[in-house]
Amino acid sequence: MSFFNNKVVVVTGGSDGIGKALVEALIALGAKVATCGRNHDKLYHLQLEYSNVMLHTWACDVSNEQECQGFIESTIETFGGIDILINNAGVSQRGLFLDSATEVTRRIMDINFMGTVYCTKYALPSILERRGTVAGVSSTAGYRGLPGRTAYCASKFALQGWLESLRTELMYSGVNVMWVSPGWTASNAL
Ligand SMILES: NC(=O)c1ccc[n+]([C@@H]2O[C@H](COP(=O)([O-])OP(=O)(O)OC[C@H]3O[C@@H](n4cnc5c(N)ncnc54)[C@H](OP(=O)(O)O)[C@@H]3O)[C@@H](O)[C@H]2O)c1
Repeated sequence: MSFFNNKVVVVTGGSDGIGKALVEALIALGAKVATCGRNHDKLYHLQLEYSNVMLHTWACDVSNEQECQGFIESTIETFGGIDILINNAGVSQRGLFLDSATEVTRRIMDINFMGTVYCTKYALPSILERRGTVAGVSSTAGYRGLPGRTAYCASKFALQGWLESLRTELMYSGVNVMWVSPGWTASNAL
């Protein structure tokens, strides 16, 4: 039997790209999956492929704390709790700092970093009860600064530092905290 069988797994940003591939793989392994995204149509088409018993979808912009709270609470109401949270939702960047408005940096930090903070905040009590896992989808850009990606790199550095601190805080709680750093992956973002 798969490790994921009957586990409740939240994947943020599961309507496209890496997140969608995760949703499909996890459901195939027997998990109950909840996912979110901003675009209702993409979520609707994903939901059509699976029954409500296997997949819960919710429109949510992870840069909005109240929407994250609503998504996590609706997941707990639907599936009874959360075992694993995969903070995947993210946006990329192409543009030199000199040519970019500072608002670009704020927006990328709000989605890639604060989105993880918000979702983890509301999911953690349930994950603690179940001794589950909090994961972040980082990048090689979380280890090295890259030209044209100042804000993206900053958001991934922040993500990793935050998760490493959280891991230490939760060291004796039974909760796993981890991040993964995929290489270049064909998707909408890149
Ligand atoms: N692709 C790569 O080469 C690569 C490499 C390393 C790391 N990563 C990381 O992997 C993650 C996924 O990237 P991807 O390439 O799969 O991206 P993608 O194909 O663009 O998919 C992004 C997913 O996240 C959702 N999303 C974006 N902004 C959101 C927001 N504010 N609130 C809620 N959902 C949001 C999108 O749905 P909506 O647009 O409908 O909101 C979509 O479902 C990101 O964290 C990225 O930094 C990607």
